[in-house]
Amino acid sequence: MTQARPNQTPLNETRHDHILILDFGSQVTQLIARRLRESGVYCEIWPFNHAPESRIKAYNPKGIILSGGPCSVTEENSPRAPACVFEMNVPVLGICYGQQTMVEQLGGKVEPGDTREFGRAYVDVMAHNALLDGVWDKGAHEQVWMSHGDRVTKIPPGFEIVGKSEGAPFAMIADESRRFYAVQFHPEVMHTPRGGELLKNFTHKVSGCSGDWTMAAFREEAIAKIRAQVGKERVICGLSGGVDSSVTAVLLHEAIGDQLTCIYVDNGLMRAGESQQVVDLFKNHYNIPLIHEDASKRFLSALAGISDPETKRKTIGGLFIDVFEDCAKRVGGAAFLAQGTLYPDVIESVSFTGGPSVTIKSHHNVGGLPEKMNLKLVEPLRELFKDEVRVLGVKLGMHPDFVKRHPFPGPGLAIRIPGEITPEKLDILRKVDTVYLDEIRNAGLYDAIWQAFAVLLPVKTVGVMGDGRSYDYACALRAVTSTDGMTADYYPFDHGFLGRVATRIINEVRGINRVTYDITSKPPGTIEWE
Ligand code: XMP
Repeated sequence: MTQARPNQTPLNETRHDHILILDFGSQVTQLIARRLRESGVYCEIWPFNHAPESRIKAYNPKGIILSGGPCSVTEENSPRAPACVFEMNVPVLGICYGQQTMVEQLGGKVEPGDTREFGRAYVDVMAHNALLDGVWDKGAHEQVWMSHGDRVTKIPPGFEIVGKSEGAPFAMIADESRRFYAVQFHPEVMHTPRGGELLKNFTHKVSGCSGDWTMAAFREEAIAKIRAQVGKERVICGLSGGVDSSVTAVLLHEAIGDQLTCIYVDNGLMRAGESQQVVDLFKNHYNIPLIHEDASKRFLSALAGISDPETKRKTIGGLFIDVFEDCAKRVGGAAFLAQGTLYPDVIESVSFTGGPSVTIKSHHNVGGLPEKMNLKLVEPLRELFKDEVRVLGVKLGMHPDFVKRHPFPGPGLAIRIPGEITPEKLDILRKVDTVYLDEIRNAGLYDAIWQAFAVLLPVKTVGVMGDGRSYDYACALRAVTSTDGMTADYYPFDHGFLGRVATRIINEVRGINRVTYDITSKPPGTIEWE
C-alpha cells in the first residue's frame, strides 16, 4: 500500500463535467465520491481548509457537495465553507455537518438536539423537488442513515422544509431557486437504500452533469497522457502480483510498448503458484519485458531468527529496495518509475489537530527509491478508486477473476506466521491457504469477501488421528468484509462451511491438527495478525 505524498501536484482534473466535494472530516466522505463516480461523474475531494476561493473558482465545478464531519457548528471556530461556494451560482448539496454549516452561513440556526440519531432512521417526505425526482414521492416514509447530535432549528430565508425525521424536524430542506439542497442524513451510505439515486439527481438533474466519466474514456485519455509524459524514455514498473501494479503495467504497455520493463521480485513469501502466475501473465501472455528475480533465499536468510512484526516488515522492505534497485540498474537508462498509486492514497485528509496519527503498522513500499535513483514518477491510476481500477483492468482485457483478487500485503505470508518464519512453516501455510480459498471459491463466496487467508499459529496442540496421538500446529482462518481496509467485519460463514474446511485442512495438510476461525472485527483487531 503506497502512502500519501501530499507534496505532489494536485489532480484538479477538468476535462469532464465535475463536482467538487469539500470534506469536513467525515469517515464516509470517500463514499460520496464513489457514488458519484458510479453514475459517471468525475469528482474530487478537497479538505475544506485547503480550498482557497481562487482555486475553487478556477476549478469551475458543475456543483459542490459539503460533506459531513465530526465538529459541531455551535462551537467557536468550527469549520465553515468558503463563502464563494454560495456565490458562484452553482448547485450546492450539504450533507449532515454540510447541511448545518450551510444553514448557519445562510442565516438559519443550528442547536444541540435533545435526541441524538445514530443509525437507521426514517424521513417523512413533505414536498417534491428535483433532488427527489423519480426517487421519493411526497407523503412517502423512507429509510435513511443518520449520525448527528446537533440539528437545524431554523431554516435560512428562501428555504422550505422537504422532509422530517423523529430527531430532525428539518431532515431535508431546499431553496430551489438558488439550487441549494441540504439533508441531515447520509445519502452516500448503503443504509440509505436510495441515497445513490438522490446523489445522481443532484449531479445529473440539478447540476447538469452528462455522466461522461467512463473507464473507456479514461483508458484513451490515460494512454495519451502517459505518452505525452514519458516521450521516448524508458520506464520500469515493480509488479507485486496485485491488481493495482498489474493494471498499471498493462496500461503502460498499451501506451508505450517495450519502453516498459517490469520487475518482479520474488521474496519467497508469496502464496502457492503465485510467482508462476505473474510470470505467465506478463511474460508469456502480455509479452511485456519482465525481470523475474528469485530472491527468496536472500529474504528467508535475512528473516531467520526474527519474530517481531515491525522488524519483519522493515527487513523485508529494506531488502526489497536493495533487490529492486539492482534489477532497475540492469534495465539501464530508465527515467521513470511507474507506480499503482490510487486516489485514496493521494486524497489529502482533513486534520483538525495538525498532530501526527499513531502508526499501527508500517506498510512498506519503494519509498525513497525514486529520489535515490533519480527517477521521475508515472502514476496513471492516481485519479481512480479501486473499483474503477478493476473495471479498467477488464477493459484492458484482464480476466475478471484476476482483477477481483483480494488485496495481499507486501510482506506476504511473513505477517501471517506469528513468530519466526521457516521454509517448513511457509510450506504448511501455503497448503492451508490453498484449501481454504478453494473452498471459498467453490461456495461462490470469494467476491463477497474483502480478504480471506489463513494464519499459522506458533502453537502446537495435541490431537488424535486414527489410533494415534498427534502433536501439530494449529491454524486460524480469517475472512473479513470491508470497503477500504480501514474498518472490517468478520465474515459470518455458516458452521457447515467451516466444518467442511476444517476437515479438509486436517486431512490434506500434514502438520496441522487444529483449525480455528477468527471472529474479531476491525477495530479492535486489525485484518492481518501482525
Ligand atoms: P491491517 O492489518 O492494518 O490491514 O488491518 C489493512 C490492509 O492493509 C494490508 N496490509 C499491508 N499491506 N504492507 C502492505 O502492503 C503491509 O505491511 C501491510 N500490513 C497490512 C492488509 O492486508 C489489509 O488489506
